[in-house]
Amino acid sequence: MTEGEVAVLDYGSQYSQLIVRRVRELGFVSHLYPPEQLAALNNPGAVILSGGPRSTSEVGAPDVDFGALMTFGVPILGVCYGMQLLNIKHGGTVKPGVTREYGPARLVVQEHDSLFSGIPHDSQIWMSHSDTVQNLASTTKVIATNQDNVPVALQWSESCFGIQFHPEVTHSHEGTKILRNFLKLAEDKLARFSITDFKNQMIDQIRTEVADREVICGVSGGVDSTVLAVLLHKAGVKQRCLFVDHGLLRKNEREEVVAQFKEVGVPIEVVDASETFLSALKDVSDPEEKRKIIGNLFLEVFFGAADYIEVMAQGTLYPDVIESATSGSIASKIKTHHNRVDRVMELKKEGRVIEPLAELFKDEVRALGAELGIPHRALWRHPFPGPGLAVRVPGVITEERLEICREADAIFIEELRRSGWYERTWQAYAAVLPVKTVGVKGDERSYEAAVSLRAVISEDAMTADWVELPHDLLRIVSHRILNEVKGINRVLYDISTKPPASIEWE
Ligand code: XMP
Repeated sequence: MTEGEVAVLDYGSQYSQLIVRRVRELGFVSHLYPPEQLAALNNPGAVILSGGPRSTSEVGAPDVDFGALMTFGVPILGVCYGMQLLNIKHGGTVKPGVTREYGPARLVVQEHDSLFSGIPHDSQIWMSHSDTVQNLASTTKVIATNQDNVPVALQWSESCFGIQFHPEVTHSHEGTKILRNFLKLAEDKLARFSITDFKNQMIDQIRTEVADREVICGVSGGVDSTVLAVLLHKAGVKQRCLFVDHGLLRKNEREEVVAQFKEVGVPIEVVDASETFLSALKDVSDPEEKRKIIGNLFLEVFFGAADYIEVMAQGTLYPDVIESATSGSIASKIKTHHNRVDRVMELKKEGRVIEPLAELFKDEVRALGAELGIPHRALWRHPFPGPGLAVRVPGVITEERLEICREADAIFIEELRRSGWYERTWQAYAAVLPVKTVGVKGDERSYEAAVSLRAVISEDAMTADWVELPHDLLRIVSHRILNEVKGINRVLYDISTKPPASIEWE
């Protein structure tokens, strides 16, 4: 860890990562730590205790090493569960709740200095808790209440605070200002975070770690692998970038990826394995079976083309690192990350894997990409799943159905870009359904495929909502697809949220 960073202790709240992001947005270095690592931290500049789903009154509820915390002599902020824990440590009590208070409430400020300096007397805050503080120690000062006069912010010393609400979510309207006020208490001791410094330090680190070995890097044209490849290129190390074409790419995707890398001056090798993949998938309709075939073949083709690997570079991001550190989390059970397969784990054990982006959140990767001169269009590309169009052609994959999918998808994406909706959606695509439908073309009855369009907004792909695209736009897209793509007589728009639907069809 960096001396002077803001250490956030993770008590399991869904918002813990968001606290780290907000602190970095305010310009300071910050990382998330399990509470049991507190005593081992090296001179943090401030400590924030996150919220969490447990009750402090439960047997085995996560605790804080209060002695270690106080010896740092730095500003401390407890959020939600963190506040209740600090209240107990200072001699107060917490009342277990029966129901959860979730949603907006009012912040009524009693003390306008320090934490609430410049904060209006009354503003909206966001709550998500069931326990509440009950008795306060005599030295505790209530610095804010809610609309019903219940304490929601406590102060125990000049630089030790607790707040019941979540300042890290945007629904707490003054949240960022409150965090900034808190960090001001330690400002001259805090380590600064800037993407330019990060880039320069990372380039030095890559040069040292890699030395004169050759680095292999898989690229897909997506944001993370593009930024990674360009970063390695800027570091000037010996580098081979492999792009596997599994035959399940979108229209012109291979040419576009090649052009994208040409534009940033990084040579890539295209490994054309489309025939191998498509013949292995022939007549396979089960989604899990498809995924398994594609996953295994991908590794075989990639490692076959790579030959002997001296060093492998992976585009792992900070949320993946946190996810694997908190084993048992729901997120980690849903997706098996391709960067944790056995082959890679073996290389890792031997110190032959580097993960230069492992400190960064997605928005920081984009900022790094911009700093490296990567064009905006490449940095704002929608995510595309590893198994490609296989999950967008449910049922048996045929060349004909892939072609329909490619053509319809290209029209949809082109119109989204033209109308300015592409960057307002998180992901959008066309899928070809495994049914044929009756229609009329000219004077004749037709019996052709149905295409379903999907456009979603999401923060992290764990949940998603469908986008309310303007009807005029949907009309243009549908008209174009029905007229320009052969083999389709019906276009649908998917209005399913995740959950219960997933983003992809398979
Ligand atoms: P689902 O369909 O699970 O998708 O709601 C969530 C996000 O993950 C992407 N996705 C995948 N990405 N390999 C990947 O690399 C996969 O097997 C895979 N399946 C889904 C999907 O595009 C969405 O962004």
